[in-house]
Amino acid sequence: MSTNINKIAVLTSGGDSPGMNAAIRAVVRTCAYHNVNCLGVYRGYQGMIEGDFKEMGPRSVNNIINKGGTILKSARSKDFMTAEGRKKAYNHLKKANVDALVVIGGDGSFTGAEIFNKEFNFPVIGIPGTIDNDIFGTSHTLGYDTALNTVVDVIDKIRDTASSHNRLFFVEVMGRDAGHIALNTGIGAGAEEILIPEEDLGLDRLLESLKRSKESGKSSSIVVVSEGDKTGKNVFELKDYVEEHMPEYDVRVSVLGHMQRGGAPSCFDRVLASRLGVKAVEALLEGKSNFMAGILSDKIVLTPLEQAIKGHFEIDKELIRVSDIMST
Ligand code: F6P
Repeated sequence: MSTNINKIAVLTSGGDSPGMNAAIRAVVRTCAYHNVNCLGVYRGYQGMIEGDFKEMGPRSVNNIINKGGTILKSARSKDFMTAEGRKKAYNHLKKANVDALVVIGGDGSFTGAEIFNKEFNFPVIGIPGTIDNDIFGTSHTLGYDTALNTVVDVIDKIRDTASSHNRLFFVEVMGRDAGHIALNTGIGAGAEEILIPEEDLGLDRLLESLKRSKESGKSSSIVVVSEGDKTGKNVFELKDYVEEHMPEYDVRVSVLGHMQRGGAPSCFDRVLASRLGVKAVEALLEGKSNFMAGILSDKIVLTPLEQAIKGHFEIDKELIRVSDIMST
C-alpha cells in the first residue's frame, strides 16, 4: 500500500445514524493496523472549519461498537457551503498534517466532500451513513437496518392497542424523499396500506382499500406513511380526510420521529460499518479518491461519489405488489 498517506481524518456529518460509531471505530483501527495516524473531527464539516480535532488511537474507540449516535457529533454546516469556509477547513487539515479524509454521512455530506476534493485535490472517501437508504451504489446505508427493526418493533406495539380498540392508525415514518423505510417496515409490520413518495396511490385508492378491509372483516388497520409521501396531505390531514369520508373508522396518528435514528445498531449495521471502514481506509492507502464505499450483493464496492450523489437507490416495485397481496 502507498506510503504517501500518513494521517487520515474521519468525521460524521448530516443526520446521525446507528452504526456511525462502529464505522469510526473501523476507520481508526484500520489506520492503526496500517501504521497510519488518525484524527477525529468533531461536529462534521463545522469542526473542520474550526479545527476541532482529536488524535485517535485504537484504544480511543473502545466500547463504542454498540452505541447509537456518533461520539464525534454531527452537524449540517452552512459555512462549509461557502468557498471561504472550505478554505479555512483545508488550512486546518494541512496544519494538522492530514493527508486524506473519510466522510461518514449522506448525500449532502458527499456533495460537500466532492466539492472539497475538486477545489483542493484532497483525497476523500465516503461511507454512507443515513437511515434513509437513499444513496446510489449501496443496497444498504449504515443505520437503515437498525431503523427498520426499531420501526417494526414500535408498530408491533401500536398494533396491540389498535386491535384492542378496533382503530385505524396512521404511522408516519422518516425517509425524507425516499420510501424505503415505509415500504419495508409496512410489509414487515403487516400494514394495510403503505404511502411512499415514489408511488402516489391517490386518496381514492386509500379509501377503497380501507373499505375493502372493513368489508373483509378486519377490525383494526395500520397505514404506514412515509414523511415525503405525495398525497398532498400530512398524517393529521389524512386522519381528518378518512374520518370525514368513513365515519365508521376511529382513527389515531402516531409520528415516530427521531426515535427512529437512535438506539444500538443491529448486528448487520455493525458488520457493515466494520467492512466499510476497512475499505475506506485501504482505498485511500491504495491512492484512490472521490469514491464511496458501499455494499452490493454482499460485496463491498466503490462507486464514484458523483454517481452516488446523483443516482438514487430505486424502490423495488415487486415489494409494492407483495404488500398489495398481503393486505388481501
Ligand atoms: O436524513 C435522515 C433524516 O432522519 C430524514 O429521514 C429526516 O427527513 C431528516 O433526517 C430529519 O432531519 P433533522 O434531524 O435535521 O430534523
